[in-house]
Amino acid sequence: MAKRRIEGLRVLLTGSSSGIGFCLAKQLTQSGAHVLATARRLDRLQRLAEQTQGGPGKLTILAGDLTCHEHRQRLVDWCLEHWNSLDVLVNNAGAGAIGPFEHAGGDRLRRVMEIDFFAPAELTRLCIPLLKAGKRPAVLNIGSVLAHRAVPNKSEYCAAKFALRGWAESIRVELAPIGIEVLMVSPSTTRSEFFDSLVDTPAGAKSPSVSSMSPERVAQLAIGVLVKSKREAVLSLTGKALVAMGRWFPSLTDRILAKTL
Ligand SMILES: NC(=O)c1ccc[n+]([C@@H]2O[C@H](COP(=O)([O-])OP(=O)(O)OC[C@H]3O[C@@H](n4cnc5c(N)ncnc54)[C@H](OP(=O)(O)O)[C@@H]3O)[C@@H](O)[C@H]2O)c1
Repeated sequence: MAKRRIEGLRVLLTGSSSGIGFCLAKQLTQSGAHVLATARRLDRLQRLAEQTQGGPGKLTILAGDLTCHEHRQRLVDWCLEHWNSLDVLVNNAGAGAIGPFEHAGGDRLRRVMEIDFFAPAELTRLCIPLLKAGKRPAVLNIGSVLAHRAVPNKSEYCAAKFALRGWAESIRVELAPIGIEVLMVSPSTTRSEFFDSLVDTPAGAKSPSVSSMSPERVAQLAIGVLVKSKREAVLSLTGKALVAMGRWFPSLTDRILAKTL
């Protein structure tokens, strides 16, 4: 299949105020894509707008909470009014949580599922009519290695990312006949603000990790996935190793992971 051209693409990108989304917005506009960038923190989006000014691609910001239906609808209305269609939806916004499932309140599970699963799924549903009218349309989901192999003390996050991956696998087949591609990238630990904004997590909660990636690199690899239309990509070697171990030696993997408790 021919490579997708980034220049001129119209992209709706969630979670643009920091980390991977911030870098994606910058790299996409630098390559000539037009981006509607969203997140809750307006000041951060304004900083992003300043940093992308004068680039070949145009960036527009629209702040709001993605877990609210009204905000999702506003994003879709904006695309309809200004673009009349949409080429790429990037479901990047997300949040994690750390700690034993037993001791967490039920609210933690619901909040993580809201932002990591229900919000992207419902935003995608609203975007499908716009994507149908787009140029080589695609939904790019930012998943996680933990969507492939779960680890202890992150049960809510693993559940949400597994849900996202299962849902993506299902709609990939549903949407293929109407020309919409569903792609997924799965980063490992990334040096972003992710661990500063954990949901209902006690201060000082630790997340063991063998190595980490920069958000710039994750964004670069995610754009590569979009260009090449790769259905799924686990981005790091350590991530690939964890997924392979979990698949072929599940009990051994459990025992190794138990040592991180
Ligand atoms: N960092 C990692 O180790 C890692 C590893 C694997 C996968 N990922 C995934 O990568 C994606 C990006 O995360 P990141 O590492 O770049 O973390 P980040 O720096 O914390 O970025 C998360 C983004 O999501 C937005 N967001 C969170 N809740 C939101 C809400 N209710 N409504 C709207 N926007 C919301 C945040 O913006 P506001 O706070 O301004 O709303 C922010 O822009 C996530 O899906 C995450 O699960 C991260």
